[in-house]
Amino acid sequence: MSYQHIQVDTAVGPVGAIVRGADLSKPLDDAVREEIRDAWHTHHVLFFRNQSLAPADQAAFAAHFGDLDVYPFMKAVDQHPNVIPIIKEPDAKVNFGGGWHTDTSYLERPPAATVLYAVEVPDEGGDTLFADATAAYEDLSPGLRRMLDGVVGIYSPKIVHGKDGAYAKLKASSPDLGPAYGGNEAFAESEVEHPLIRTHPATGKKSIYCGRAHTHRIKDMTREESMPIITFLNEHLTQEKYVTRFKWEPGTLAMWDNRSVFHYAMNDYDGKRRHMHRVIVQGELPI
Ligand code: SIN
Repeated sequence: MSYQHIQVDTAVGPVGAIVRGADLSKPLDDAVREEIRDAWHTHHVLFFRNQSLAPADQAAFAAHFGDLDVYPFMKAVDQHPNVIPIIKEPDAKVNFGGGWHTDTSYLERPPAATVLYAVEVPDEGGDTLFADATAAYEDLSPGLRRMLDGVVGIYSPKIVHGKDGAYAKLKASSPDLGPAYGGNEAFAESEVEHPLIRTHPATGKKSIYCGRAHTHRIKDMTREESMPIITFLNEHLTQEKYVTRFKWEPGTLAMWDNRSVFHYAMNDYDGKRRHMHRVIVQGELPI
């Protein structure tokens, strides 16, 4: 598509595009919104530099693309229930999102979009990696694609947030993690079924959707039997050829499609502060 209202620059890496020409602090005209939506579906993750967004502006921008959702494990910014602060203080050791994942895929209707805004970032470090799960799916052999067709996974927050999950283990050694990453104990053990490979409702393209962070096992298989398959798919999709490494500046906003990219927040900036605001936009039942 050629765009009339925005400029889309793909010279950022294998996946994603920088978008210029839109001031996200103002309500978007329908034509601009549709161009952004088209670019988002095409490039999977969009980056907008030099924005100036209060939490209400960020939520209003995200609401152009669907109903906002609430993150189940963290307290929101005051008076903005859909905006969560993601803060790593200089003395903290653990970061939020420091492993490959697609956001909250353990929800029955996982988010279509995540909209992340950089309030304060270190001069160096704290980049986010994005992996193209559609290209990675398309590069699988026809035989493996056929085998995976229709395979259902059991997705759960318990791998990260459960009583025996990663955060519980980290908290034992790193109390700086704080209460922000906890709570919601019953939900933390819940399970839902989603396909390992999902089809994008707008583009019709298929993507790898399962991941070590949230896919507990394959339905009707043990976790031990499932993990080699889930691990293979994760290692396949996070090869360098599918990954864009994005460097933040204060005032950058990224909007990614959780149905077609995975991401990873680098934790390589000890002694520095990083402060982001995050909003999720509700998606549909994965098919
Ligand atoms: C996330 O995983 O949603 C946060 C990513 C980041 O902070 O870069």
